[in-house]
Amino acid sequence: MLSGGDELWFRDASFYEVPVRSFFDSNDDGIGDFNGLTMKLDYIKSIGMDCIWLLPFYKSPLKDDGYDISDYYSILPDYGTVEDFERFVSEAHARGIRVIADLVLNHVSDQNEWFKEARSSRDNPKRDWFVWSDDPDKYKDVRIIFIDSETSNWAWDPVSKQYYWHRFYSHQPDLNYDNPEVREEMMNVIRYWLDKGLDGFRCDAVPYLFEREGTSCENLPETHQYFKEIRKMIDREYPGCILLAEANQWPADAKAYFGNQDEFHMNFNFPLMPRVFIALAEEDAFPIVNIIKQTLPIPEKCDWGLFLRNHDELTLEMVTDEERDLMFREYAKLPKMRLNLGIRRRLAPLVDNDRYVLELLHALIMSLPGSPIFYYGDEINMGDNVYLGDRNGVRTPMQWSYDRNAGFSRADSEALFSPVITNPNYHYESFNVDSMSRLPTSFLNWFRRMIVVRKQNSQVLGRGSIRFLKSEDKQILAYIREYQEQRMLCVFNLGRKPGFTRLDLSEFNGWHLRETISSVRFPDIGELPYFFTMPRHSYFWMIMEAPNGT
Ligand code: GLC
Ligand code: CA
Repeated sequence: MLSGGDELWFRDASFYEVPVRSFFDSNDDGIGDFNGLTMKLDYIKSIGMDCIWLLPFYKSPLKDDGYDISDYYSILPDYGTVEDFERFVSEAHARGIRVIADLVLNHVSDQNEWFKEARSSRDNPKRDWFVWSDDPDKYKDVRIIFIDSETSNWAWDPVSKQYYWHRFYSHQPDLNYDNPEVREEMMNVIRYWLDKGLDGFRCDAVPYLFEREGTSCENLPETHQYFKEIRKMIDREYPGCILLAEANQWPADAKAYFGNQDEFHMNFNFPLMPRVFIALAEEDAFPIVNIIKQTLPIPEKCDWGLFLRNHDELTLEMVTDEERDLMFREYAKLPKMRLNLGIRRRLAPLVDNDRYVLELLHALIMSLPGSPIFYYGDEINMGDNVYLGDRNGVRTPMQWSYDRNAGFSRADSEALFSPVITNPNYHYESFNVDSMSRLPTSFLNWFRRMIVVRKQNSQVLGRGSIRFLKSEDKQILAYIREYQEQRMLCVFNLGRKPGFTRLDLSEFNGWHLRETISSVRFPDIGELPYFFTMPRHSYFWMIMEAPNGT
């Protein structure tokens, strides 16, 4: 753990999501590794990230990119050794960067020794570590998540002749959390990695730990109770470390994972994510305003994680059928772009690499309540490859330069774990860290500047409350963030056309407005409505200064 500092550090932090495999290859075998990641820490620092979230790096047959763990106490040899991992964490800490890692509690790989033992015979001591049944109709109210590849949550085990339960791929048997040994073992896994220096975990698939007949087997009280026990242990033994929940649920169910600030510190704002894209497609601020109101308030010592994209498909499970149709129509024109109930594309291609829209979306998630979580490569507008299977098209090698293999690896191109992006509209020869760093007007440099500005205003943006302002034009979204004496006014035009609005700011009569990025001073606020004219897809962040504050 990075020592010192505020226990609420995560409320002011920017997060960076990284798959070790995709970032940088230090030993020329075509696969990214911990030493490579360590070599690129200065870059991660240069884009102002405060915390790295590592995707699973444990031993795994990689049938679900590492979310199928065969040994919880080891590192996949391709990625390096435990010493490499520890060196990476301490080098990150030396730069003031924290590190959290994926923790996969719900299921293991069918190659895990625990499962191999459990299936070996019905009276094996590990048998009860998994969920078995003779009847595949048990828990029949439970939805299937990977609908493109699974037809049931039960899979037949020909060895011991019973069905086992799995919420994801059939090669990922669910652990049985009713068994106290399982609960204890996972506490040990948590301690093991926190002892190696981690600052917390992104907890995978949290809603699904327990099963009960007659329910959806999601968000059960027993599941919340177990996370509260984990939290208690962390507060006692590893204060300052955090738990971030992946709970892709409707707002009320998602909010419940904060508990009474005795469960998760953070939780991804899954409800907001698709609605940002819906608001953009519909040129209407309402979906954003509405969902933010539904996801607030939350306990003070907790925060949302705000994201636009991640390593999975853009999930559309928790939207209405109409909203999903709209999303597919707008953002997944080719059938290949869809996966399960979602869209397997990266951010830049989703919006046709429109610089205005990309800035707008980033300015949004950097200023709404919560901490922004960025997906590696989105800061260089990386493209995707929908011809690669599963979600691999959004996990291609990071693009460092216009050298061979985008500077990711010196291996032969055929040896790379995945091809690099060469589509002409997103070619790595233009979209890479080196070229974009040298171009002052690049998106990457804009991103760096915005993160600096966000840090300068980290209290009001990280911890402030939000108040939406009435706008006469539905395509204009306006809100004020407030923290103690600090105030920031944020205005966005979500429309494809220019727009204007008159905001009632009369309670701030006499106050000054200063554009945050340039420091340009705007006309003072008066009695009359404040007038904004805005080009298409544009934004303003305005510092509000009290009259005596100049
Ligand atoms: C989570 C992960 C996803 C994985 C699934 C099963 O949703 O984000 O990548 O496939 O869990 O572990
Ligand atoms: Ca390597």
